Amino acid sequence: MPSQFLRTKSIDKLIADANRADHRLRRTLGPWSLTALGIGALIGTGIFILTGTAAAGEVLQTPSIWKAPVLELVMRGGSAVGVSGRPGAGPGIALSFLLVAMVCALAGLCYAELASMIPIAGSAYTYTYATLGEIVAWIIGWDLILEYAVSNMAVAVGFSAYVDSLLQSFGIRLPREFMGPIFVSGQRTGAYFNVPGFLIVMAITVILVIGIRESAGANSLMVTVKIVAILIFIFAASRYIHASNWKPFMPNGWQGVLTGGAIVFFTYIGFDSVSTAAEECRRPQHDVPFGILASLVICAVLYVSVALVLTGIQHWDALRNAAPVANALRAIGLDSVQRWVTVGALTGMISSLLVFQLGQARVWFAMSRDGLLPRVFSNVHTRFRTPHVSTWAAGLFVAIPAGIFDIGTLADLSNIGTLFAFLLVSLGVLVLRRRQPQRRRGFRTPWVPVVPLLSILWG
Ligand code: ALA
Repeated sequence: MPSQFLRTKSIDKLIADANRADHRLRRTLGPWSLTALGIGALIGTGIFILTGTAAAGEVLQTPSIWKAPVLELVMRGGSAVGVSGRPGAGPGIALSFLLVAMVCALAGLCYAELASMIPIAGSAYTYTYATLGEIVAWIIGWDLILEYAVSNMAVAVGFSAYVDSLLQSFGIRLPREFMGPIFVSGQRTGAYFNVPGFLIVMAITVILVIGIRESAGANSLMVTVKIVAILIFIFAASRYIHASNWKPFMPNGWQGVLTGGAIVFFTYIGFDSVSTAAEECRRPQHDVPFGILASLVICAVLYVSVALVLTGIQHWDALRNAAPVANALRAIGLDSVQRWVTVGALTGMISSLLVFQLGQARVWFAMSRDGLLPRVFSNVHTRFRTPHVSTWAAGLFVAIPAGIFDIGTLADLSNIGTLFAFLLVSLGVLVLRRRQPQRRRGFRTPWVPVVPLLSILWG
């Protein structure tokens, strides 16, 4: 392979490029707004839906290889076709959440060290450029863009369906032709365009272009709303827990708990996006590690609590449906709490969309600044100091497919992409400890090489 593909970019050069006046972003974020960005990305739709799916297990009916979820195909090849299933974790789903949090924390500790050494936009892409070289950086850059983009296409389509059913519950029925994707599973639906899915992504794009402070402010507000909604659920529903629902705690043993973990991994995707905003915070060396780890811990506590309460108020076997939290609340007669959960889920989707669009634009921006994408994507708006061209590009890249397709099955790609990024970031810590042991680190991953190696193996 030609040596230019393996050349790395020195950390000093990366930092010098980031400080050039024509590429400089506005530094306004502090530790708590970064934590809120992490929580904004983490708590999306996953906790409200996948907790039930993973606790109850799944029966998958896959008529052809083209309709098989990507993750199933990768893991099980041709046997993913036909009727198959995943054992439920039962109440042990709380343990699944805890285990996945521990795996993510290992990667989080590695992200924290690299973010404190290389405090510039681009996250895993930039760290890889500094450690493993240009070609791997290019691959992980596109991996991150696709991970954030595909996840957001799926969330935008879900948002549209949610808004539609909410409006219908108030008796408002908008023209069907403009409320859904044109294609579902390769078949035409008769709809012309998914207007709500398109519009929400474009509205978020406008906020992101106007400013990082405004974007972080909108995100913090939404994070507050969804945390309040989750706390209301935990406290109101905990009075209806029947301990008998928790027995047996692990109906399918550790196999169920581990399979559940693979499903709920999606709920932890997003904490890494904190590091894409490193160039826009005041004290990146301290605040980015804090934001990554604090958002992980806060979400782990909330997730485990939701899992315990949900499996306590309804038998785990009854949670196999599209809206397990809302349905369980209805079943115990807490309709008012269910409305809060709906509000929480909706704001969860919007803030998840916002942070992933922010992260995606920062990766376009960083790759362009390094010459791996056309230069125009690293333009910075003279007044707003945001990477406006890459933000619009990222917006259209997600909004248009969200209007046309139903990308549900591709959402599995996000999991694979994230695990690949975890792998490279953990490797990066090992490489830099060896090559540049003296360089100042605002945060040091503990127990190196054990933590990065475990992160690589468990991921
Ligand atoms: N972690 C995000 C969610 O659960 C992607 O929706």
